Amino acid sequence: MSSPDRKLEARGSNADQIEYWNGDAGEKWARHQDRLDAMLAPFSGAVLSLASVKPGERIMDIGCGCGATTFDLTAAAGPSGRALGADISAPMIARAKERAAALGSSAEFLLADAASHDFAPGSFDILASRFGIMFFEKPVAAFTHLRGTLAPGGRTAFVCWRAFRDNAWAALPLMAAMPHLPPQEPPVPGAPGPFAFDEAVRFRGVLTEAGFGSIEIEPFDAELTLGAGAEPVETALHQSLEIGPLSRAMKELPEASRGAISDAVRKVLEANLKDGAVRLPGAVWLVSAKA
Ligand SMILES: C[S@@+](CC[C@H](N)C(=O)[O-])C[C@H]1O[C@@H](n2cnc3c(N)ncnc32)[C@H](O)[C@@H]1O
Repeated sequence: MSSPDRKLEARGSNADQIEYWNGDAGEKWARHQDRLDAMLAPFSGAVLSLASVKPGERIMDIGCGCGATTFDLTAAAGPSGRALGADISAPMIARAKERAAALGSSAEFLLADAASHDFAPGSFDILASRFGIMFFEKPVAAFTHLRGTLAPGGRTAFVCWRAFRDNAWAALPLMAAMPHLPPQEPPVPGAPGPFAFDEAVRFRGVLTEAGFGSIEIEPFDAELTLGAGAEPVETALHQSLEIGPLSRAMKELPEASRGAISDAVRKVLEANLKDGAVRLPGAVWLVSAKA
């Protein structure tokens, strides 16, 4: 087993996210990596086809988490290429390194804030990401920095969530739980979080200000399997309560409210059980741009 990296210092820009992804959230993602990867597999496929990696290319997987996409990108780049997964979460990078060893993959992993880490200029042909680019406190500065890591002609292949209301996997459980939650602050448009780039126009503006050109932002829809197997509804319930917007909203909630929330969420998940699995729609942007 590889020894875990020391946690990044949480200061300056992205300090809140460094705290968040090194706490309970990062631990849960590392623990449930298998299930999350199965759920998010359609979006790895989308990153891969958007990137259309050629053998020998050098790729950074931004916010790589436990490494699923980095492994696919490494395989696509072949022995003469390389893929580096960068992430601020020590537990998730530790899991990624363990998996690389177990798989015999040459994927490399680095505990680093991709928004500011001192990468060699021009050292990548592709910047890729499956849901790892929506958490920058200063997105224009972050993407300007990241653009500098691309070689001339370098490109991006990003996948990020569209609007919350179009993502039933997130919206349905949270809306069902809402009557049992304390009043929620309305989300700040563009604030770091899964839905920071829900509006294509906002993401386009950020990338343009950061100096990218040839920006293309296309919608892509795929179902997420929240639960399958022996107990699909209980698995989906556990998933919804542990990870994602509902779990964030339930932080610091008294134990007494949790039962009512479980019951309400279980009901909507049951209503979406079909052919032995709970599947709910997901809606993302496929984002390509040139340095
Ligand atoms: C929703 S998870 C996605 C993880 C992974 N890409 C996947 O699809 O399984 C978001 C990831 O972005 C990482 N992240 C957030 N801000 C980051 C930053 N500034 N630099 C590097 N990674 C970051 C988090 O630690 C987390 O692993």
